[in-house]
Amino acid sequence: MAEEILKVENLARHFTLGKKQVLKAVDGVSFSIKRGETLGLVGESGCGKSTLGRTVIGLYPPTAGKITFDGIDVGGKKTSAQRDELSRRMQMIFQDPYTSLNPRMKVLDIIAEGIDNHHLAANRAERTRMVVELLRSVGLDEEHANRYPHEFSGGQRQRVGIARALSVNPDFIIADEPISALDVSIQAQVVNLLKSLQKKRNLTYLFIAHDLSMVKYISDRIGVMYLGNLVELADSDELFAHPLHPYTQALLSAIPLPDPRAERGRSRIVLEGSVSSPINLPDCCRFCSRCQSKGKECEKGIPPLVEVRPGHFVACCHVV
Ligand SMILES: Nc1ncnc2c1ncn2[C@@H]1O[C@H](COP(=O)(O)OP(=O)(O)OP(=O)(O)O)[C@@H](O)[C@H]1O
Ligand SMILES: [Mg+2]
Repeated sequence: MAEEILKVENLARHFTLGKKQVLKAVDGVSFSIKRGETLGLVGESGCGKSTLGRTVIGLYPPTAGKITFDGIDVGGKKTSAQRDELSRRMQMIFQDPYTSLNPRMKVLDIIAEGIDNHHLAANRAERTRMVVELLRSVGLDEEHANRYPHEFSGGQRQRVGIARALSVNPDFIIADEPISALDVSIQAQVVNLLKSLQKKRNLTYLFIAHDLSMVKYISDRIGVMYLGNLVELADSDELFAHPLHPYTQALLSAIPLPDPRAERGRSRIVLEGSVSSPINLPDCCRFCSRCQSKGKECEKGIPPLVEVRPGHFVACCHVV
């Protein structure tokens, strides 16, 4: 079995709003990622995907729980060498290539920022050489180095964002909806680029997305989040073939099928009700208010994530 590069145990990230209001953006989430693997993370807007990603990478301190990256406690006390190591080895690619690049900086300097911060180039010539190599590795040219972000298309800007993340030679990348802001025709190109870079550089990805079909294409395993909780986790093929949580079933039933006859013949699960407010949540199954199989037992507390088939975890009292 491949070695785990990231381990997240019972992670919580709450935001305090005013005196008595607590927003539990991430609440008791556990999973691990193996080196070289892609874990996809899906769930509707506001369920806590970005907060989870930001907490894992150390942008937010965890409210509770533990994150271990290659033996280092991300949220704990670290030596300055460990802090440096984490900030180099864990990188993030953001959703919006329009706002995540500084408009006043040339692409050369945007990409070289990490190289400078981590003193990875011996001199200016080497710095430029490294940037040119990075540009080529993401499908851009040497001449792009002296341009500004506004001179690029959305897909090209996201390539610059990817080159920036790669500049410090990381081994773990959190891609937070890296293709959502792009034209559909460009999305597959960027995903294919991420896939080929992963192979070449043995990268590990946490890939956050809305689009389940694209997530299936890139991910080895998929985690499904609902209101701060991880409700299902399985190999991609297994999740699509045997979704067990009622929420996952509803999400999958909304994906159109390519075969029109199969598409006509199948039924959609339409979720009734609306997502509960993430503020001052009761301690019961978060999906309760919208679940068709809801019963008294669902109010007894948040169901734990349990392995019901090999490698297939689900948090639902009707399945376990
Ligand atoms: N800094 C913050 N302060 C207070 N609340 C926050 C903060 N960041 C996020 N939240 C809240 O936490 C919840 C989870 O937000 P988050 O951005 O993690 O969701 P998401 O799954 O990434 O959604 P989307 O798909 O829209 O990007 C939301 O209710 C959001 O309003
Ligand atoms: Mg988000």
